[in-house]
Amino acid sequence: MGRRLLFLGPPGAGKGTQAEMLARTLGVPHISTGAMLRDNVERGTELGMKAQAIMAAGDLVPDDLVVAMVKDRLGQDDAACGFLLDGFPRNVGQARALDEALGAGALELALLVEADEEELVARLLQRAIEEGREDDNEQTIRNRLQVYRDETEPLVGYYPDNGVIVVAVDGMGTVDEVFSRIVKALATN
Ligand code: AP5
Ligand code: MG
Repeated sequence: MGRRLLFLGPPGAGKGTQAEMLARTLGVPHISTGAMLRDNVERGTELGMKAQAIMAAGDLVPDDLVVAMVKDRLGQDDAACGFLLDGFPRNVGQARALDEALGAGALELALLVEADEEELVARLLQRAIEEGREDDNEQTIRNRLQVYRDETEPLVGYYPDNGVIVVAVDGMGTVDEVFSRIVKALATN
């Protein structure tokens, strides 16, 4: 049985960057709801059309849509032997839906990656220049940070109350430094 992990942390903390590296190392799929939603927007699917303006504003796409998308993804063969969730769950409602879908005790551990707010904003503004992601502008970044504090950060308390340990990893420093911390944290938890 491979590992069943999830990444928590604010926008720009490096969840996607680290999850991709870790998924390759562990041989499990990296499941990023943000990436899946952006793919739907690009392909102009019904889901993508519903999600586009919400994502551009930095708000959360409705739970029912995201939960259905994740359940479908977790039902695919490659997720049977472990997975790495990135950007989901994003609030307590989604966490409950995931618990129901997987059954109690299925999640092993959550990695909480954090960085200073100025660093988060600087990374996302830099990505705006490099990649032009629609939600990487100052106003939307501020809203994404606020949505994180209001909706997602409560999961840092929810998971330990529900039998899943949360391991905090310092997300400051280089990509490789952060990755080493994650590998070390997983070896001891
Ligand atoms: P999502 O795609 O999940 O975006 P996010 O949480 O805002 O996070 P980011 O992807 O911006 O940050 P990250 O922590 O992954 O960092 P990354 O590695 O990319 O969600 C986007 C939107 O989709 C949401 O706002 C919402 O609308 C919707 N959505 C998604 N999931 C949802 C859900 N479950 N429910 C409802 N709605 C949902 O790194 C950021 C940048 O920094 C990159 O350029 C990277 O190269 C760079 N970087 C990374 N690490 C370092 C480092 N150590 N040093 C310097 N630069 C670094
Ligand atoms: Mg990401």
